[in-house]
Amino acid sequence: MQPKKFNPSRRAVLMGAAASVLTPLAAKAVLANVGPMRDLEARVATARLMGATGPQTPVWGFDGTVPGPVLRVRHGEELAIRFANKLPEGSAVHWHGIRIDNRMDGVPGLTQTVVAPGSGFDYRYTPPDAGTFWYHPHERSFEQVPRGLAGALIVEEQEPPQADQDIVLLISDWRLGTDGQMAGGFGSRHDQAHAGRLGNHITVNGEPFVTLPVQANERVRLRLINACSARILRLQLEGAQPKLIAVDGQPVGPTTSYGEALMLGPGNRFDLMVDMVGTPGHSFVLAEISGERQELGRLQFHATDRRRAEPLVAPIALAPNPLLLEPDPKGELIVPLLMTGGAANEMDMKVLMGTGSVWQFNGKTTMDMAAMGSGEPLFRAPRGRSVHVRIENRTAWPHAMHVHGHHFRLLARENGPAPQPFWWDTLLVQPGETSTIGFVADNPGKWMLHCHMLDHQAAGMDAWFEVAG
Ligand code: C2O
Ligand code: CU
Repeated sequence: MQPKKFNPSRRAVLMGAAASVLTPLAAKAVLANVGPMRDLEARVATARLMGATGPQTPVWGFDGTVPGPVLRVRHGEELAIRFANKLPEGSAVHWHGIRIDNRMDGVPGLTQTVVAPGSGFDYRYTPPDAGTFWYHPHERSFEQVPRGLAGALIVEEQEPPQADQDIVLLISDWRLGTDGQMAGGFGSRHDQAHAGRLGNHITVNGEPFVTLPVQANERVRLRLINACSARILRLQLEGAQPKLIAVDGQPVGPTTSYGEALMLGPGNRFDLMVDMVGTPGHSFVLAEISGERQELGRLQFHATDRRRAEPLVAPIALAPNPLLLEPDPKGELIVPLLMTGGAANEMDMKVLMGTGSVWQFNGKTTMDMAAMGSGEPLFRAPRGRSVHVRIENRTAWPHAMHVHGHHFRLLARENGPAPQPFWWDTLLVQPGETSTIGFVADNPGKWMLHCHMLDHQAAGMDAWFEVAG
């Protein structure tokens, strides 16, 4: 990663130390703080979400862009981010899907104090897993994320599978007026009690439509990230036969058995490998079909000289990530998580006019985010314990259940399709389903477990658990 401002590079520091240019004391001071920091600033900005000739929309963006910069780091290397908050309100950065050191998890009230406007926080950690991750604030996320604060975090494999292009596609949706201005009403009771804040305008990497030039026979890796506040994406790459190679950052397959569309809940990531079998002029269209079919982009075959005479035949499986411990199939600690509440239908006036909490976990609510860390956890586990959480969705809405600091298996599902053998950090649980997830609680600290429909999270669907050190 390149430092943006002046900073001695790691190599320069090490070379300087080796050449004894620094006094021993100074050298020690520098080396104790290994590597340069990369600045990351959350601030107010504008973006042309409707295209280059469209209106300017006021947004909040990391480094003033939507999405924020793609942060890339090599597996095994440290990520060092100097976060500065230039927003009009408090914030923090959460690194979604990273099995991170708890102090770096970025959850105000639970793992750190909120970063006040005008101040900052240094995040330093070495991601244990290679893969596709993302970052976003964990403070008033129901407003900060749909205003534009989200970005991709890519941890590159030591030995990446052979691909001619590696393309990040971060998908967001926005609620815009026809004038391109962002609709207010963040955290409205109506959104909270229904599907959440669904946008009316979808972007890929901040654009309404992306054209990605490819050459015939190329192999392209696509990293899909659902950064929407509430929308469940159903994606198709029409005409192509993409192979799914990773889910939520963890290698799978390769497999093509994902049904007729790729279904990503808010927070999910899918890595695909696509062979560009076709001729110049041809294209594969990326369409979203959760509502009316909508084209989001296209892989466009170019007529220029080909990189490859023949498509690659080499295998495309990713090497496994280290130390993902299989949970005990019987489970040593069984945690029931009953989800209730929300509106029963569009016209549920009882809920809309009510004053109590919209959603409940096990009949209780955690409306007061400030009391998060001081309230009771959903459970406590000694380190190394196999935990099963039995998530029962007795609401009329799907929920995207996200666990911090750990990846989990879907061990059993009642009233839904059979589980796939994936590791997830965020799992869709449809109305009426009961999903039992399992993981080894091997990462000490206080961790969130919440719905990633961000308005649901803000209205009672959040909890935390503690893994003893
Ligand atoms: Cu992506 Cu608790 O968050
Ligand atoms: Cu939810």
